[in-house]
Amino acid sequence: MEQLMRDFFLFLSKNKSLTKLAKKYGLRFGASRFVAGETIDLAVAKIRELNKNGLSVTIDYLGEFVDNEKEANEMADNSIVAIEAIGKHKLNSQLSLKMTSMGMDISDAVVMRNMTRILDAAKQHNVFVTIDMEDYSRCQKTIDIFKKLREDYDNVGTVIQAYLYRTEKDIDDLNSLHPNLRLVKGAYKESPEVAFPEKKDVDDNYKKIIKTHLLNGNYTAIASHDEAIIEYTKQIVKEHNIPNDQFEFQMLYGIRNERQLELVKEGYKMRVYVPYGTDWYGYFMRRLAERPANVAFVLKGMFKK
Ligand code: FDA
Repeated sequence: MEQLMRDFFLFLSKNKSLTKLAKKYGLRFGASRFVAGETIDLAVAKIRELNKNGLSVTIDYLGEFVDNEKEANEMADNSIVAIEAIGKHKLNSQLSLKMTSMGMDISDAVVMRNMTRILDAAKQHNVFVTIDMEDYSRCQKTIDIFKKLREDYDNVGTVIQAYLYRTEKDIDDLNSLHPNLRLVKGAYKESPEVAFPEKKDVDDNYKKIIKTHLLNGNYTAIASHDEAIIEYTKQIVKEHNIPNDQFEFQMLYGIRNERQLELVKEGYKMRVYVPYGTDWYGYFMRRLAERPANVAFVLKGMFKK
């Protein structure tokens, strides 16, 4: 049943008409639990609050189904607005973005031009940029873009997903770049031909890559709400005397808020992924797919004024 619900929400997340409709009607159905607001000003206010509590942030301007150059350029403009807001308000925040929203599916020239603009602005304001990882069909291309950008920029990192069979090799191949990587389990529906179908195998592979990347001496972001993974990381860093400034935990805005604050109190660096913008629908559906228990919360939201 849970798997059916997951598949259903992932299916809904890809619906273009619903995405457009949701954009028109504003943050609804309890989505504000996971999305900081529709404007940069609302996002800045939320980030200030999080920073005040000792939490670092990575901000994400939401955008789905970018299918022409004009839209990709607008997405890049909005990411630069976010970078400038971080600089202007002296926020403790990085930036996250997706290569499809920068024009990856349109052409190499469009995505590279937009990324160069963004990384130049980010460098000027001392902001680190993480390239989110999308579905398997775009994995190699995303890694290639990251490698190319890494030749000219220090302030860029990417994401590696533990559910893919190829991941261990990617961690090894990227090691020579000493990359700052965010390690995650993976959020998309993938075929068993490319990804571990069993959760236990994903978790085992996740632990393996966390250990490898840390012991390789690289900066590692462990982005998970899973207590077993957090405990495993704590144990590994203790065992191998890895300093607290070589890694950080990351969680999504609105998920396990209390645990986020506890980790700060325990002396760990904790970063919250803060999405904002009018294009909240797909992101919101993926969060429901991850944890169908949140649906009860959404149903309550639907009946609230
Ligand atoms: P998992 O979903 O396996 O849950 C394990 C346990 O965590 C649960 O049993 C429960 O105890 C606890 N838990 C989970 N959700 C909870 C909730 N809502 N409330 C309370 N407890 C909860 N993916 C991707 O493909 N590309 C990307 O670029 C990113 N980027 C990214 C950034 C950040 C900061 C995060 C946190 C995550 C991502 N992800 C991602 C998503 C990631 O791949 C994954 O889908 C989710 O984090 C869910 O997996 P978990 O590791 O959290 O544990």
